[in-house]
Amino acid sequence: MKFHRWIAGWLFVPGLALGSGVVDEIAAHKHLGVASCASSVCHGATQAFKESNVMQNEFALWQEFDPHATKAYQALTGAEGQAIARKLGLGDATTAKVCLDCHADNVPADKRGEKFQIADGVGCEACHGGSELWISSHAEKSATHADNLAKGLYATEDPVKRAELCLSCHMGTPDRMITHRIMGAGHPRLAFELDTFTWLNPHYQIDADYIARKGDWNGVRDWAVGQGVAAANLLDVLLDERAGFQGIFPELVLFDCHACHKPMSAGKWAPRQGTGLGPGAVRLNDSNLVMFRLVLSVVDKAASERVLAQSRALHQSTLRDRAATLGAARALRDTLRAELPKVGAFDFGEATLSPILASVLTDAERGEFRDFAAAEQAAMAVQSVVVAFKNAGALDEARSKSLQTRVDALYATVDREDAYAMGPFVAALREVRAAAR
Ligand code: HEC
Ligand code: HEC
Ligand code: HEC
Ligand code: HEC
Repeated sequence: MKFHRWIAGWLFVPGLALGSGVVDEIAAHKHLGVASCASSVCHGATQAFKESNVMQNEFALWQEFDPHATKAYQALTGAEGQAIARKLGLGDATTAKVCLDCHADNVPADKRGEKFQIADGVGCEACHGGSELWISSHAEKSATHADNLAKGLYATEDPVKRAELCLSCHMGTPDRMITHRIMGAGHPRLAFELDTFTWLNPHYQIDADYIARKGDWNGVRDWAVGQGVAAANLLDVLLDERAGFQGIFPELVLFDCHACHKPMSAGKWAPRQGTGLGPGAVRLNDSNLVMFRLVLSVVDKAASERVLAQSRALHQSTLRDRAATLGAARALRDTLRAELPKVGAFDFGEATLSPILASVLTDAERGEFRDFAAAEQAAMAVQSVVVAFKNAGALDEARSKSLQTRVDALYATVDREDAYAMGPFVAALREVRAAAR
């Protein structure tokens, strides 16, 4: 089954097979454990080293501030995590594979070195790959980044690879599913945006030597790529017979939560051009698809229109039958996969930022952000674009401040998902757009 899927992905676009690929790649070599990275002459310094390429205090930053160290495993020992596992009949959450897969570095027993501790949570090697082959050589003066990658270091700097990695826990893949049953037991809803999340608790800096070793960095590109990978991942899960369907229902976690979870008296229905669905339909959560379509409107106009047509076809096929749904999902996924490399290589320079904001607003004006999840993604998108404006030096201090105040006001309209209303969201978005001109 796994082999079959791998071959299928490989035949379409080499290097872009999503899902099980990243989990297998991270677990390809032995994980020696966080303690193996933490010596004070390695990554366990208390202060950043000035003469070194990397800060070398990564362990201290991770241990003290990073929720992957401070909260991920602890979520399973705490009362909330224990209750979720109990309701699902899983017993102790700290021994349940489904929980450990995302809340720790749950590689198989034969891939754990002597210092490996599952209770370390999402440790260095859960993101950087098993260090068995590169640990002794990667700090040598002669070691290049390419040498390290060849020995199994994971390419976290590559936005497509990074998105696949983060989403394997922050969205779920066919192999690591966060199901509606898990949500029903009380698990928080997952929401992720690559650029925003990459910079929430960083233990890295993009400086001249970084760019020399690994290439330049662009936050808008990361946002854009993250949307494409997430949209393709949604379709991968839907297309997976095991993960995409539960009995007579499709897996509900793939749908817009608020299509079902709102009071019957809300009376909020109105048409959305992006779906073409009538009232009373359960809608796929297309928030990442909507965003990726907006990305494509600046990268490849024709592809953006194709994504709109194919998304509408997918939404409407869900009311017909399973075969039509799978066919439409496959066609759309092929379009997304073909566009991802173009988006990754596109120069999101200053001139593209304003058109992106404009296209978000155009969609908003015609009612595309009726659903909370899409509005939430749009708010994170606007934040990434505004930060990129700032980093490009396009804003003086005063404009930068006034723009950020408006972005904060936009975030406030998506703060409480159960109280979300489209009107205030669109009004706040208009304010951001006006200030960015
Ligand atoms: C697909 C990956 C995935 C799976 C499977 C998963 N979780 Fe989570 N869980 C997450 C992520 C990611 C978050 C953080 C959400 C956020 O803040 O964005 C989280 C958050 C939580 C929280 C809230 C923690 C806090 O700090 O508020 C608890 C409790 C929890 N998970 C328990 C569990 C239990 C118990 C299981 C097994 C039944 C489980 N999770 C399965 C990814 C997963
Ligand atoms: C949640 C995933 C994640 C975890 C856990 C993690 N890292 Fe990272 N790390 C990243 C990302 C993303 C980057 C930035 C992209 C890049 O350059 O690879 C990075 C970059 C780095 C860099 C390179 C900075 C540079 O200038 O090239 C070092 C060194 C590093 N991490 C060490 C560690 C150590 C040590 C740990 C454990 C204490 C750790 N990381 C845990 C994701 C992670
Ligand atoms: C092995 C699974 C796993 C991987 C891989 C992973 N994360 Fe996480 N991440 C988690 C879990 C679990 C939590 C939740 C911790 C908690 O709050 O209980 C989390 C929390 C976070 C948070 C804090 C969210 C909040 O609401 O405060 C950020 C930011 C984050 N992750 C970013 C990333 C990024 C960026 C990547 C990819 C470079 C990544 N993560 C990869 C499992 C993972
Ligand atoms: C197709 C409709 C549908 C969709 C879409 C849907 N749910 Fe549900 N949800 C239900 C039903 C039905 C129940 C079971 C209610 C019961 O047990 O009485 C439920 C139960 C829940 C519960 C438990 C509520 C309780 O009273 O304990 C939570 C939490 C939940 N869903 C979260 C979500 C999240 C998060 C999403 C989106 C990722 C989502 N749901 C999408 C229909 C849906």
